[in-house]
Amino acid sequence: MTMLDQYAVFGHPISHSKSPRIHSLFAEQTHQQMQYIAQDVPAVNFKTTADAFFSEGGKGLNCTVPLKELAWQYADQLSERARKSKAVNTLARDTDGSILGDNTDGIGLVNDLTLNHDITLLNSRILILGAGGATRGILLPLLAQHPAHITIVNRTQLKAKTIVHEFADTGSLNSCDYADLTSLQFDLIINATSASLSDELPPLPNALLAASGSCYDLAYGNKPTAFVRWGAAQQARKSLDGLGMLVEQAAEAFALWRGIRPETAPVIDLLNRDRETLNFYR
Ligand code: ATR
Repeated sequence: MTMLDQYAVFGHPISHSKSPRIHSLFAEQTHQQMQYIAQDVPAVNFKTTADAFFSEGGKGLNCTVPLKELAWQYADQLSERARKSKAVNTLARDTDGSILGDNTDGIGLVNDLTLNHDITLLNSRILILGAGGATRGILLPLLAQHPAHITIVNRTQLKAKTIVHEFADTGSLNSCDYADLTSLQFDLIINATSASLSDELPPLPNALLAASGSCYDLAYGNKPTAFVRWGAAQQARKSLDGLGMLVEQAAEAFALWRGIRPETAPVIDLLNRDRETLNFYR
């Protein structure tokens, strides 16, 4: 019996990961013979567990919190978007045994915004809340869409300034303080803080979102996040959470591994239907 090609997502915690479901739906849809499992891997065990996975023939890994920086260090080669973001969510074993690191989060976000939700990024004024790894992961693909500018706001200003400095050559980027937001307005506000995980909201003034502007939370759950609720209260054209981005980043990883691009819409619909049965509302 031939063994199925092996893939996994490593993270800690990992038990609630939707990635095994998403990838098994992609595999079924595209007729790929593969297996994808979730494995709880604390940061201290990352290198030994990844070494064992690849030496036993594993083809590819997704890495999530808190392993993305470690995966970045682990890769032998990096895509440009991964190199800049200093975070890797996808590892692929090449035919020569070397390990390629990519970051598909940013393109996943861009595809969800533009293809699934018809949100225009060209010439738009974008605000990103937060200046951690999540922000680094999305910047290059967002800037590649040529927005008018991207502003990063963070509690700890130095972190936002450091990112602006690192990405200065890639587009129109600046940073500010939460207190400066009172005089500003944006077409798209992206929440890349970890505040949603504790159902908190950064301090945002009421007129911050332009008419017909949209809100997007990189986080997702079975209920709307505090930021998604804020966007809805601001009459956003769309106030979305990161479920679509999750599926889109998975599709990019799948395409890198298997050379075939799955359709995302039926998978997003299915996951949304799961949530509806849990009383998710928009
Ligand atoms: P990740 O890798 O998910 O981006 P991180 O690197 O720990 O996680 O970054 C978390 C981000 O959320 C930071 O920008 C953090 O702000 P500080 O750098 O000032 O700590 C931001 N954050 C977390 N909780 C927040 C809250 N309640 N209000 C505003 N920002 C918050």
